[in-house]
Amino acid sequence: MRIVRTVKSLRACIKKAKSRHQTVGFVPTMGALHDGHLSLIRRCRKENDLAVISLFVNPKQFGPQEDFAAYPRPEKKDKLLAKKEKIDIMFYPSGKEMYPSGFLTTIEVERLTEHLCGAARPGHFRGVATVVGKLLNMVAPDRLYLGQKYAQQAAVITQMVKDLNFPVTVKVCPTVREPDGLAMSSRNVYLSARQRQEAAVLFRSLQQAKKEILSGERRASHVVRRMRQTIKTHSSGTIDYIACVNADSLIPLEQLTGDVLIALAVKFGRTRLIDNICFHL
Ligand code: PAF
Repeated sequence: MRIVRTVKSLRACIKKAKSRHQTVGFVPTMGALHDGHLSLIRRCRKENDLAVISLFVNPKQFGPQEDFAAYPRPEKKDKLLAKKEKIDIMFYPSGKEMYPSGFLTTIEVERLTEHLCGAARPGHFRGVATVVGKLLNMVAPDRLYLGQKYAQQAAVITQMVKDLNFPVTVKVCPTVREPDGLAMSSRNVYLSARQRQEAAVLFRSLQQAKKEILSGERRASHVVRRMRQTIKTHSSGTIDYIACVNADSLIPLEQLTGDVLIALAVKFGRTRLIDNICFHL
């Protein structure tokens, strides 16, 4: 595995691969790699000649009160894991390399960013779209791998790719879960033992909703109310949102039909966890 720290050397590696007609797959990450990332990496590895990951904790997607400084950065472990997964190139830029002084440009994807996490985290998706747009220009991959766990992020990036004509295919891959159903996340390490145990209720509430819907329930308000009850009864978590939306437009649904995304964000102490399920009716 080559660890590359500058855009110039990254571009040189990519140019070489492309001159050999190799396909390039790309997994953007903020590090603290877990099995969720590894599943994206394995798929990227399988479907491309060259597998590239980036490791960059992007300051522009954190709000002023959020966990940018505390975000886990287990550098050594990440490098070992990436090497074990036979990544070809790890792009590991500094803050200055990504945002040199005088940096003034941002990418704003409208509408899709207004609801769900966008409502509680103003500016978050601007930061995500900007860094992913930059990374796509640097890596120039044929395929980009994202996790379904971040459904809104995947929708925003897919829209950006379409609107700005990035020549890349976006692959959204299934959420990887712990044995009790909790979605893997770099932030799970923040949870106390009790919070960690309680957090399994998030996936249970999503499964319960799916079961009710598959038995004929179509009222979004009813589904949300029942999920709320389950989470409140079985955990100390504070619900930020539970929403039933159209999976592509992210517009809230009253009656459940078509491609449905049920998404939630719940805070355990200061740790905000998100999860979702997606299905067609
Ligand atoms: O999903 C993440 O880890 C980040 O939002 C991403 C896509 C790497 C951009 O910083």
